[in-house]
Amino acid sequence: LYRSQSHDRSNSMGVNLANDAQLAALAEQIRAHAGPWTAGPLVPGATSSGETIEVTSPADRRVRVGQWQAADTATVEQALRNATDAHADWNAMPAASRAAILEHAADLLEARTPEYIAMCTREAGKTIPDGVAEVREAVDFLRYYAGEARRLFIVEALPGPTGESNSLQLSGRGVFVCISPWNFPLAIFAGQIAAALAAGNTVIAKAAEQTTLVGHAAVKLLHEAGVPDAVLQYVPGDGASVGAALTSDARVAGVVFTGSNATALAINRALAARDGAIGTLIAETGGQNALIADSSALPEQLVKDALGSAFTSAGQRCSAARVLFVQDDIADKVLEMLAGAMQELTVGDPALLSTDVGPVIDADALRMLDAHAERMASEARLIATTPVGEATAHGTFFAPRAWELQSLSQLQRENFGPALHVIRWKANELDAVIDAINNTGYGLTLGIHSRIDETVETITSRARVGNVYVNRNQIGAVVGVQPFGGQRLSGTGPKAGGSHYLPRFTTEKTVTINT
Ligand code: SER
Repeated sequence: LYRSQSHDRSNSMGVNLANDAQLAALAEQIRAHAGPWTAGPLVPGATSSGETIEVTSPADRRVRVGQWQAADTATVEQALRNATDAHADWNAMPAASRAAILEHAADLLEARTPEYIAMCTREAGKTIPDGVAEVREAVDFLRYYAGEARRLFIVEALPGPTGESNSLQLSGRGVFVCISPWNFPLAIFAGQIAAALAAGNTVIAKAAEQTTLVGHAAVKLLHEAGVPDAVLQYVPGDGASVGAALTSDARVAGVVFTGSNATALAINRALAARDGAIGTLIAETGGQNALIADSSALPEQLVKDALGSAFTSAGQRCSAARVLFVQDDIADKVLEMLAGAMQELTVGDPALLSTDVGPVIDADALRMLDAHAERMASEARLIATTPVGEATAHGTFFAPRAWELQSLSQLQRENFGPALHVIRWKANELDAVIDAINNTGYGLTLGIHSRIDETVETITSRARVGNVYVNRNQIGAVVGVQPFGGQRLSGTGPKAGGSHYLPRFTTEKTVTINT
């Protein structure tokens, strides 16, 4: 179950699943891990601590999940000192030894899959299929970047006409700060850290406040696998205090961040305002992802993929489809089928196997989605709302909704939740559709449903996006196979899970010897 990366077994929303019996057994194992969990800074030598925060379940705010303690200013300072001091030894270690530790961590995580799914379900409201995919991706990242370190950290001899011996050597940059999002509390968290560590950097990690418990458990596992405590430290807290203290410190060589474009820009400004060496920023940010369907699309497949792309993970993926552009010839049929399919989705407790859509992350997220729904009520036509039962009464749930719009300009920003928008287009408007998508400034994922090769080629070549998916859903990039990440307002690149990622965490040294 956990080893399969294949997409050939999927549920109604296109999520990887194994057979029912395996899933039922897994659900039973997940139930055995009920918490409560505790977390706090993992910083050797730190003596003080900050505020304590109680964690409740997004699915039911009466259910306590655990508590964590924030890092205070002195703890952040201690972490920076430790990370700076620990860098030389970690960087001097052979890359293959660092890789072996990360591979050991992957094995441990794989063996403890149910426990980590349980934490993702309880703290982040992930459904079980999402939890399986989450652990799977974290394991893949650990193994992939370990493999990349083995491949890249070979001293490369450069033959040439100089009559000298030339070689190129890679090395870690120094201290890396990893700031990860709540929507992939394990996968993106572990991916950022694995890349930075594999390349020979020491790491100070800050998880999103909403998923601090999962982040803490992941760091403990990496320590158990053999990463020294000072090489990977954990500083829970909010962005305004802990995040800002880290990114404005000149001892930090680089920051890897996934989150909003506004925060990425703030980090970029903080790095630029420091004296000394120029800091590296690797940022993955938001999207306004479209799915373009022409009249040759198969309506059943289109609806299934649109549903999966828009509502899997309660729409809380940066890859999620937000806008379906459907050619008018098939639009009525597609919208009727979409409305019907949305009635069949089950919204509720993410720990139940029958649930398709779990809660959104917190009350702030729900407020933004409710405000969007209110605006749509006067500016758009409601196509469908998924029915939501009593089970959602005490959690932060937003019923999946689809609206028909006249124009993309009606959406000013990304709506991070199960909210799909549909716009009709006519045969002569394809160029205008592509222009409108490009003009949002975002460039993350794009779905295409078409059986016409020329149309697929035109859209693919003109769209300024990072990941194009044709005649399938547009979520769930597979590490190493579908490198993931966008351009322009969607991020700096390089792509996570791709061959250009690890080099960005390194410095290069050319050695020339007159022989
Ligand atoms: N990597 C995720 C996906 O492909 C998005 O964040 O869905």
